[in-house]
Amino acid sequence: MKKTNIVLIGFMGAGKSTVGRKLAGAFDMKFLDADALIEKKYKMKISAIFAEQGEEAFRKAETDLCRQLLKHEKGFVLATGGGMPLRKENAELLKQIGKVVFLYTKPDEILRRVKNDTSRPLLSGPDREEKVNALFEERLPKYLEAADYVLETEGKSFYAMIVEIQKNCMK
Ligand code: S3P
Repeated sequence: MKKTNIVLIGFMGAGKSTVGRKLAGAFDMKFLDADALIEKKYKMKISAIFAEQGEEAFRKAETDLCRQLLKHEKGFVLATGGGMPLRKENAELLKQIGKVVFLYTKPDEILRRVKNDTSRPLLSGPDREEKVNALFEERLPKYLEAADYVLETEGKSFYAMIVEIQKNCMK
């Protein structure tokens, strides 16, 4: 199979890291997780970067990472952070990096998945449901614009998702 990169985008809790890991495993590709790479570089948790250096510093780190990944050897699956494709510059870089797949997961399912999560600074504090709904509405058009392919995740097994990505994005 031709060496190509797959870039997974989508809202927090959409399943980017889990699907990415399984996809990479299935096709003997390397798995890269943008949040984990940034945490490694900063030697800090994402929540600490937000708290100590501010969201803008984190967003800059995301853009730097996109630029770096353009030069990375081909044949990897990248799980992005939920905000990564929102900057136009990043969206353009991601399209150059590989096939961009938007994991479309609805807000009610997202809420169910992130219910007990404390690692995501944008969802911290009260009114989580309102936050998710508002952010989702604001971001959806940008995800759609950034995507080469939209994969609806509802009711699909990981196997079905991987087969769908392979059929539509890896030839
Ligand atoms: C963010 C999503 C997070 C992480 C950071 C900001 C966002 O990644 O990058 O907390 O803006 O949506 P996940 O999508 O993996 O949760």
